[in-house]
Amino acid sequence: MVSPWTIGIIGGSGLYAIDGLEDAQWIPIESPWGKPSDEILCGRIGEVRVRFLPRHGRGHPISPGELNMRANIDALKRTGCTDILAISAVGSLREQIEPGRFAVVEQFIDMTRGRPSSFYGSGFVTHVSMADPVCPRLSEMATKAISKAKGKVATGATYVAIEGPQFSTRAESHMFRDWGADVIGMTAMPEAKLAREAELPYALVGMVTDYDCWREGDAVDVAQVVAQMQQNSQLARDLVTNFVKALPKEREPSPIDNALDDAVITAPDKHD
Ligand code: ADE
Repeated sequence: MVSPWTIGIIGGSGLYAIDGLEDAQWIPIESPWGKPSDEILCGRIGEVRVRFLPRHGRGHPISPGELNMRANIDALKRTGCTDILAISAVGSLREQIEPGRFAVVEQFIDMTRGRPSSFYGSGFVTHVSMADPVCPRLSEMATKAISKAKGKVATGATYVAIEGPQFSTRAESHMFRDWGADVIGMTAMPEAKLAREAELPYALVGMVTDYDCWREGDAVDVAQVVAQMQQNSQLARDLVTNFVKALPKEREPSPIDNALDDAVITAPDKHD
């Protein structure tokens, strides 16, 4: 029996492949929003269809601020995704969330600037709720999948998204801590907002690679981030496989499947 789940995996830095994907094929997907980061690797794990998109493209040619997130989310939707599990490298703003740990994100602070962040506007106005920006059901399954892979996990994390591509200044890093942020990254916003507008339940797992720069004497650099990612890449792949394999046979509807129902403000006679 074919599973009712089709899982989109957005792989960040450090996750460039999926283990155990059967009938895997890279497929180019056209989107009216432009070019996605790459072709989408379509296949299945058991009965579950899996769609894998390397967020920065194969070989990592696309910088965070250059990502066409609308095309990425739209392309995943077009390949039939019902749900998205996103993985991202993050810095830690908390002593107890040490490099090597996985942080399951619950909230966001969006400090990105000028990135296209909506599918709507131009005569069709929607205001979708982002009060609870991730899908709790997916987050819980991701948490279990990390534990099953023997990874260390922190739950309920608040992620601050910065524009980048530069890392933060120390003053910013301290300020984000004061604001209550736990982890820092450059890529999950507006990705999570667009997933919500596309009515796709979305969860984010941060792979902690560094302590950013708030600690005395610490400063983050790419070598550190890459080394930690390499150490964790097998765990990240195991987490994805465990996650897919543990999906229930049935997929109960999620309220996020209908997130737009109460979000459109433009009068029906003004749009079709
Ligand atoms: N990705 C990984 N580490 C990061 C950091 N410290 N700041 C922003 N993005 C990151």
